[in-house]
Amino acid sequence: MIRLKGIKKSYFIGERELPILKGIDLTIESGELVIFMGVSGSGKTTLMNIIGLLDKQTEGEYFFMEKNVDGLDDENLAVLRNEYIGFVFQQFFLLPYLNALENVLIPIVYSKKNIKHPKEKAKQLLTRFGLAERTHNKPSQLSGGEQQRVAIARALINDPDLILADEPTGALDSKTGNEIMELFRMLNEEGKTIIVVTHDPKLAQFGKRLIRIEDGVISQDITS
Ligand SMILES: Nc1ncnc2c1ncn2[C@@H]1O[C@H](COP(=O)(O)OP(=O)(O)O)[C@@H](O)[C@H]1O
Ligand SMILES: [Mg+2]
Repeated sequence: MIRLKGIKKSYFIGERELPILKGIDLTIESGELVIFMGVSGSGKTTLMNIIGLLDKQTEGEYFFMEKNVDGLDDENLAVLRNEYIGFVFQQFFLLPYLNALENVLIPIVYSKKNIKHPKEKAKQLLTRFGLAERTHNKPSQLSGGEQQRVAIARALINDPDLILADEPTGALDSKTGNEIMELFRMLNEEGKTIIVVTHDPKLAQFGKRLIRIEDGVISQDITS
């Protein structure tokens, strides 16, 4: 599903090059549950943004769904993102003036997929995540864990093959964070490919494959 070859990413501050990713080779197959672990500043988000087709590498090749995506323009990248990828972030990024149900339905507006009965599907997802009584609540009327579950439902409404979650438990207490990780594990068992980024070593146990990122390179890659 994902193949990275010699991926480097630098930022440029004026003339000065600031290397962030220093040569990443990585293959992730469909159906994997992968944890990217690394301290803050090691390049995890930079790597996730490249994998999620939100940013481009400065060097190297990226094959997504067997297809080289390096030459694609923003519009074509957006089409691929929309079709294949659901995103979950630390800060949830729910729209404050929409209720839970409306937030889950947002991706449908942009979708080129023909999702049948989206409203029913959104309700089913929320019910499944224990939020049946919360569908009309605004984000401010939900706990952090509830907001993240709404965000995960939103990531799923479009039936993506791949879920990318960048520090999804970073704003949650550890019990709630573990519940969110269990949810990812369940979704993986149902066939979703999932990559979770975290700096929290306690979450390593939730993955089948643990990839350690250190200073812009992969320092360890263990499958249990
Ligand atoms: N747009 C940018 N311009 C310059 N430096 C950046 C930019 N984005 C990230 N960085 C730097 O890249 C490094 C890695 O960042 P990031 O990928 O966010 O790390 P992580 O997610 O592992 O904490 C950090 O030192 C950060 O300051
Ligand atoms: Mg980060």
